[in-house]
Amino acid sequence: MTIVQNLSVFVFVVALTQTASSFVPQRSPVQKTFLSRIFLGSQNIPDAHGESPKPTVSVTGYSSLPAQDRRQPEFQNLEPLPENETRQQRIDRETRNRDCFAEFGDDLWNLRDAMNDWSRQLISSLASGTVDFESDVREKLRQAEARDPELVYMLALADAHEAKTQGQYESAKAHEERAQAARSCLPQFQLDGLWVGKYGSHGYEMINVTYVGDTLIATKITGDKNVPRGEITFQADLHPLCIDSSNHPDANKPFSKSSSPLHKMTEPLQPIQLTDKAARKWGTRQLSRYGGLGQVAEEGFRNHQYMDGQLIIIGDGYFSFAWVPIEQQIFFGRPSPELALKMLKNSGISKVPGIFDQPPSIDAHVETQKEYAMRCLELTDEHRDEVGNNDFSCIWTGSDADECYFE
Ligand SMILES: *[C@@H]1O[C@H](CO)[C@@H](O)[C@H](O)[C@H]1NC(C)=O
Ligand SMILES: *[C@@H]1O[C@H](CO)[C@@H](O)[C@H](O)[C@H]1NC(C)=O
Repeated sequence: MTIVQNLSVFVFVVALTQTASSFVPQRSPVQKTFLSRIFLGSQNIPDAHGESPKPTVSVTGYSSLPAQDRRQPEFQNLEPLPENETRQQRIDRETRNRDCFAEFGDDLWNLRDAMNDWSRQLISSLASGTVDFESDVREKLRQAEARDPELVYMLALADAHEAKTQGQYESAKAHEERAQAARSCLPQFQLDGLWVGKYGSHGYEMINVTYVGDTLIATKITGDKNVPRGEITFQADLHPLCIDSSNHPDANKPFSKSSSPLHKMTEPLQPIQLTDKAARKWGTRQLSRYGGLGQVAEEGFRNHQYMDGQLIIIGDGYFSFAWVPIEQQIFFGRPSPELALKMLKNSGISKVPGIFDQPPSIDAHVETQKEYAMRCLELTDEHRDEVGNNDFSCIWTGSDADECYFE
């Protein structure tokens, strides 16, 4: 059974299509600085001929490396970050959090199996009235529950919500801190940043994952003729609470529709159980998944619309997103820094500069001049280094055998 066949129908409130465009990221000055740095680097590169052998990277041998590899030393021998107390505290806190929660993966699934067993024992001991045993099991359950980050996140959020409704702000704050500690151990909330996946015949594309509250938003950094860059490719609702606020009089309360556009109306999705072979490959018996919406469009972003989707968490380094009705699933992996730079550069990073039949006149608006200069640089670079297939070797692309991994 493929995932897609496995899916039961779930319905979202699609108020989303309206709100979606407000998530489109703004151009920021940071990106421009980044861009000019890349180009400064490339100007010193005389030519780019020949196949590039794997570089034996040393900074002194830099100029003898083929152009494509010359950028690599930038990532070697970086100085260690200066000591920073704030940072150290954060690292300590993260280590502490990791110690109190079961690690995502089989650790967590085993813990949940144990909790299920104990719950069953508890029910049967309640039925037979063996009281000693009962308190023992209750205690075990209590301890186990405190080690499940997803459960703790959900319960702590609910507690915080409850405390707030009763005006107990101190206690709400404590619950929120507990919630954040648990959240920081959940991989579905640690996916920020750049990912690369193969969009069928469009080839490899880069996306940028950000969060608005507990809604994950994946924006295209490189696009295609259907869904261009800058548009949302998919989003997923990761909020653990299913509070139906559709009849709620106060729309400003937390968890109301306004704060979670992809409001869940159904039970959470069951994890995907992997076959033994797949489990060995991914190092986990099951994959958790979350409801979402995937964007599709006809050429030129016409008739763009969202359809049901699922975000599937594979582990630290991978996830996938499935466009359910069209049975399309894309795997995403982290690009290497070199590949990220290359794709960013080829995409022009920000908006597509205009097409110029002839150079703008000297009196033209400065923005037009800038666009022209940018476009020239982009074209030069497109010629200079095509993104070769080898660049993607670091990314698992999902082979023909995908299907059987998720049986
Ligand atoms: C330490 O790191 C934090 C966040 O990582 C940053 O905001 C702060 O400015 C840094 N402090 C110093 C002294 O570098
Ligand atoms: C990805 O999103 C973050 C957060 O909005 C933003 O700061 C960053 O510049 C984006 N990256 C790219 C390459 O657009």
